Amino acid sequence: MPKTPKKVLEQLKLLLTRSYAPYSSFPVAAVIKSRSGRLYGGVNVENAAYPLSRCAEQSATMQMVSAGEREIAEVWVLSRGEQPATPCGGCRQVLSEFGHPEVPVHCLSIDGTELHTTLGALLPHAFTKQYLKEQKTKPGAQQTSG
Ligand code: THU
Repeated sequence: MPKTPKKVLEQLKLLLTRSYAPYSSFPVAAVIKSRSGRLYGGVNVENAAYPLSRCAEQSATMQMVSAGEREIAEVWVLSRGEQPATPCGGCRQVLSEFGHPEVPVHCLSIDGTELHTTLGALLPHAFTKQYLKEQKTKPGAQQTSG
């Protein structure tokens, strides 16, 4: 089982205290390591208009992109409860925009249980920008009807 780097674990624990989850009472923290090796953290931020809530993994991804980086190298997610929470479907898609299928994803629960997987295992056959590029290069792809 891969050992979580101390710096990452400390950041995850601090972030978990900053989560804003008054509606679900389910705090989540995420740390993303980018290609440069820098760490970007995020928490879930809920909203009284429920659908506007943001997941921790998405917050961390926005931090990374806002800092000028576009490549995810590794992901850690920390939550409470018996089982470590895995990234939701939407987060799998958002992470896959910036990470290869081999990117390791570590899901940790504060009580010590861990699940180690990869982006590709979480979201096989992901829809990526590659599909859009292929369409654009096909003759007639820009044609509209009528
Ligand atoms: N949540 C995350 O932050 N990440 C996930 O991938 C799973 C769910 C948050 C969303 C919501 O604020 C709370 O957990 C309960 O669903």
